[in-house]
Amino acid sequence: MSHKIDTVVFPVAGMGTRFLPATKAVPKEMLPVVDRPLIQWAVEEAAAAGCTRFVFVTAPEKGAIMSHFSDAPHYQELLEARGKTKELALLEAGLPANAEIIETFQDAPLGLGHAIWCAREATDDKPFAVILPDDMVQHTTGCLAQMTAQYEAIGGNLVAVENVPADQTYRYGVLDPGAENGALVEVKGLVEKPVPEDAPSTLAIIGRYILDGQIMETLSEFKKGAGGEIQITDAMAELIGTVPMNGFRFQGTRYDCGNRDGFLEANLAFALAHGDDALRQRLRRLLD
Ligand code: UTP
Repeated sequence: MSHKIDTVVFPVAGMGTRFLPATKAVPKEMLPVVDRPLIQWAVEEAAAAGCTRFVFVTAPEKGAIMSHFSDAPHYQELLEARGKTKELALLEAGLPANAEIIETFQDAPLGLGHAIWCAREATDDKPFAVILPDDMVQHTTGCLAQMTAQYEAIGGNLVAVENVPADQTYRYGVLDPGAENGALVEVKGLVEKPVPEDAPSTLAIIGRYILDGQIMETLSEFKKGAGGEIQITDAMAELIGTVPMNGFRFQGTRYDCGNRDGFLEANLAFALAHGDDALRQRLRRLLD
């Protein structure tokens, strides 16, 4: 069976309550890190990993996300008339020329598992990637490209993992880890949002997944988990023993842009990486 991943799902229908008031009128996924919105960084990461089908699970009140990936004739005409070729190129929003864009809706924010289930028709029983745009990973090779390189040989369910501080496990899906093989960690069990006392390890899932097509059937049971939400972690846990499951220790630094401090840190980190020396000096002066 081919394990090549061409479809990526972006669940972007959440409420973004941790980032109010910024997210009252602007979707969290449209908040910019340096010069482009979070969702564009995510799309660029997926494109760099070879994805060509981009599935957005969105909500009616978050129309700005799809607008960002639509043609903008008013800008195009203006920029062409003014000969602004550099700015014209920036209108592209990171999608490859052969991209297929699919928009689907989650009627109510019932949880990440439910949002992924909303993409079932677009994924068509085949394996697919999931990127949560509010988790950013900074590295020369994108996190998803690192994962697809592994996935072609192993298949199953694969999740990006990193060690988190022991008192933070209640924010993540946490692994009961088995055998290690290079960057891969066998997953023997999973617990969603455990308090530190109940956490089987400190190895936590971050916002990158490659999922076997069978996950959709499991999700269709609509079982509620932590916080009364339909959790993707629970569906993956149910498939352990049927579908091979591994954690992948990715290379790079992750920033949780779903909260204020993580988002600010990401802006600084990416600004330092992409900015010129003058900007770097000014930032240093601010810190001092
Ligand atoms: P979060 O867990 O950060 O939830 O979702 P949230 O609703 O966006 O934010 P808070 O917790 O209220 O501040 C991670 C990703 O999953 C999507 C979000 O849009 C985000 O991209 N999501 C979450 C959905 O699409 N639907 C859901 O029901 C929940």
